[in-house]
This record gives sequence, structure tokens and C-alpha cells, in this order.
Amino acid sequence: MRTQVGIIGAGPAGLFLSHLLARAGIDCVVLEARSREHIEGRVRAGVLEQGTVEVMRALGLDARLTRECMIDNTLDIRFRDGLIHLDLPALTGGKHVTIYGQQEVVKDLVAARLAGGGPLLFEAEVLALDGIDGKAPTIHYRHAGAEHALPCEFIAGCDGFHGVCREAFPPGALTTFDRVFPFGWLGILSESPPITEMTYVNHAHGFALCSRRSPRVSRLYVQVAADEDPEQWPDQRFWDELRVRLGEGAGELVTGRILQKGVTPVRSFVAAPMRHGRLFLAGDAAHIVPPTGAKGLNLAVADVRVLARALGEFFRTGNPGRLDRYSDTCLTRVWKTVRYSTYMTNLLHRFEAHSPFERQLQQAELAYVAGSRIGGAMIAENYVGLPFDDD
Ligand code: FAD
Ligand code: PHB
Repeated sequence: MRTQVGIIGAGPAGLFLSHLLARAGIDCVVLEARSREHIEGRVRAGVLEQGTVEVMRALGLDARLTRECMIDNTLDIRFRDGLIHLDLPALTGGKHVTIYGQQEVVKDLVAARLAGGGPLLFEAEVLALDGIDGKAPTIHYRHAGAEHALPCEFIAGCDGFHGVCREAFPPGALTTFDRVFPFGWLGILSESPPITEMTYVNHAHGFALCSRRSPRVSRLYVQVAADEDPEQWPDQRFWDELRVRLGEGAGELVTGRILQKGVTPVRSFVAAPMRHGRLFLAGDAAHIVPPTGAKGLNLAVADVRVLARALGEFFRTGNPGRLDRYSDTCLTRVWKTVRYSTYMTNLLHRFEAHSPFERQLQQAELAYVAGSRIGGAMIAENYVGLPFDDD
């Protein structure tokens, strides 16, 4: 087997890229370390920007999404002195976000890729890359108990934060930027009707968030210590704490059977450049953002959109111009997204190290946004998604 583009990882970045390349007539193979059941069962993000939905639509992958998604036209932020209610279409010239779970996106993209003939290999763990400085790189992987080599023209490292591709850059080739926040999010999925509006909460006890996955399934989070053991949070403790943090908003809260519980770190990380030779990083392999912005998946889609276009141009015309600009083009959006996600994280969380002065500043920022169309519009335009930077 050999291919034009070897894609490592079947998360959103790798799957979207495989569809975009297939549409452009470019041959690719996706290698995924885990099983299909595993990647389809991972509970992660749920907020899709309009640009992400448009990519699904353009690929003809939106049939189930159109039937099952929920359109969100509002974003609420509760804080000590009040409620910020953002009317997204009014503040953004008609835009909204779409609620549809990441694992549903993954299921749809996997099914369509397999129906289209793949190749998409599960339980194919990439062990090493070589030749990335030349024109004929090779991916070495283990599948069904044997080791294999996949010669390709380009490699797309879509293998997430803990993958092997970033490590394949030569020493000194990457600069990394990292901020680990001193807290995490305890997230649950609950079999209970969600509260009507997407609600972020700044409370003296810490951040909380009420989101949803369907009219009968809620996705709820509370800020906890970074190293928190979810076992310390029996169901009743979770509901009691969420109720306290929601304050007046708790009236609408309906409890239910908890289906899943886990702690997500709150961290920013950027590796630059996102390309070395014939290896291109995309999605979490190159950057992660705090979940407060709901941007991780959307940023992965924005990267591979740029990459697919650049590869398309190269294979069509031999012109490497867009490939050469890939990293700079993506990093412009990445840093804007890091900025927004950091802003929201600073605005909404309890920081143990904050002085009384800094706590007052945080409340003043919330009061400012509550009373300012421009302050609210800044959040709204980032939340619905900035326009793609097409070069
Ligand atoms: P991934 O989805 O991580 O996919 C990478 C794939 O590569 C994986 O399937 C992995 O198995 C595979 N892989 C790794 N190594 C190898 C190898 N050696 N060989 C072959 N395959 C390999 N974002 C939000 O907006 N909101 C959230 O609530 C949220 N929650 C999250 C919770 C968790 C626990 C995590 C980890 C992330 C969360 N995110 C969230 C972020 C969002 O889910 C990611 O940004 C998104 O998954 C990025 O997609 P990706 O394709 O780049 O990476
Ligand atoms: C989610 O629905 O899981 C979600 C929503 C908003 C966020 C993060 C996660 O900021």
C-alpha cells in the first residue's frame, strides 16, 4: 500500500481532512490507534461553529446533523450581580451556533468514509515516521499484530495532543507556548432535560456550565481542582454544588441518571511552526485551548480546511505556495482563539491566587459586558466563530 497523503488519527482533524481530500480527488489513508467503538464513544465537545457546519454541508455529511442538531441563538452568563444575555443573531449579523456532540460528528464521518471505500484502519498504531525532510516520507505502524510501512508524499499529523507526530520534529525545530490553568472541569452527561439556554456561571465557589446534547440529555460542568478524582464527586454532591453555583438559575435544573463523569484539564498549548518538511500538524497535535471557548474541534476543522486547499493546489498545479503559508495562516486563527479562550477562562473561573482587588476587577468586567453592546458583541462574534482566514 502507498498513498498521496498518510493521515495519522481519526479524530475530527483526520476525518474531516480525509473527506476534503477525497472530494478533491486526492488519495489518502487514515491510520487510527484505537478501535472504532472507542473513538465513537468518547464524550468531548458539543458546540459547532457555523463554519464547521458549512464544511459538513459542503461535504454532504449533514443529513443526521440537520435532523438531530439543536440551534442555539443565545448565550447566558450568570454572575454575582446579574445576568448577561447575549442574543447571538442580533449581535453577529444573523449567526448562531449548533449543538451536536463531537462523537456524533465522528460517527457520521467514519460511516461515510467507510461507505466511500476508506481506507480507514482502526487499531493501527503509528510507531515512527521517517524521511519527513525528503519527498518520500514513510509511516511505520502496527496493525493486526504485524508491523507495516506506508510510503506517502505527505503526512498529516492529526494524532491529538498525546500523539507521535509532534515528537517527530527534529530537536529545536518547534517552539512551544504553554499555560496550564490551576483547575479542571468535572463534566457529566445526565439523562435529564437541559435548561433552556447555554449558561456559563461565574460564582464565588467557581465556574459552572450548563450545556446539552439533546432534548433529553444534559452536559454539565463544574470547576474543580486540576488533579480532582471524580470518585470524590458522588452524584448528589455534583447536583448540590451545581445548584449552588447556578443560584436563581437553578429553578429550571432537572436532575437525572448520570451516564458519564470525567475531569478535563484547562490548558493552552501552541507548537510552532505547524509544518516540518513533508509533515503537517493539524488540530490538537499542534494546539489545545481551554474548553471555556468551546473551540477545540472547530479549530481542528479550520486547520484541515486550509491544509486540504493547499494540498489540492499542490497536486493540481505543483505550486507549493499555500503549503508554505500553511503554518502562518493557521497560527493567526489559533492565536486569536487562544486569546478568546483565555479571556473567557479568566472572566469566569475562581482563581485561588486572586487578591480581593483582582476579584473586584473580574466582577467589574462582567458588569461592563452586561451593560455594553460592544463588550457583548466581542464575545458573541468569537463564540459563533470568526470568519475563515482565506489567503
Ligand atoms: P483528537 O480528537 O484527539 O484525535 C486524535 C486521534 O489520533 C485520536 O483518535 C487518537 O486515538 C489518534 N492517535 C493518537 N496517537 C496515535 C498514533 N500513534 N497512531 C494512530 N493514531 C493515533 N473541546 C471543546 O470545545 N469542548 C469540550 O468540552 C471538550 N472536551 C474535551 C475533553 C477531553 C477529555 C479532551 C481530550 C478534549 C476535549 N475538547 C473539548 C477538545 C476537543 O475535543 C479537541 O480539540 C478535538 O478532539 C481535536 O480533534 P483532533 O482530531 O485534533 O484530535
Ligand atoms: C459542551 O457542550 O460540552 C460545551 C459547551 C461549551 C463549552 C465547552 C463545552 O465552552
